[in-house]
Amino acid sequence: MNTSDKAPDWEVACPLETLREGTPKGVKLKGVPVALYKVGDKVYATHDICTHAYAHLSDGFIENHLIECPLHGAIFDVRDGKCLAVAPCDLQTYSVKIADGAVSVLLPASDGDENG
Ligand code: FES
Repeated sequence: MNTSDKAPDWEVACPLETLREGTPKGVKLKGVPVALYKVGDKVYATHDICTHAYAHLSDGFIENHLIECPLHGAIFDVRDGKCLAVAPCDLQTYSVKIADGAVSVLLPASDGDENG
């Protein structure tokens, strides 16, 4: 059988128990830096690099659904990646699923295996 080369991939990111509310976690999935956020009983995932300059949002500060970049204070909504301050454009978000105690992230086919 020939599976599509363009099919998106679910990548296991981490055990759910390693995520803490109020503390973003950075992971690298197929070379893509991804930030994970536990908010209540949900988990959200975004690209980990701020769209303003170069900073890891997983080093930032989260309050409710808003992540603040540690470098110049850009603010993004982790639910839809919407930029609310400072940065010029929105943030890539990724679908998340939780199964058997593991958090998986759906990476678009074009995001994986890139340099970086
Ligand atoms: S790098 Fe994030 S606000 Fe400047």
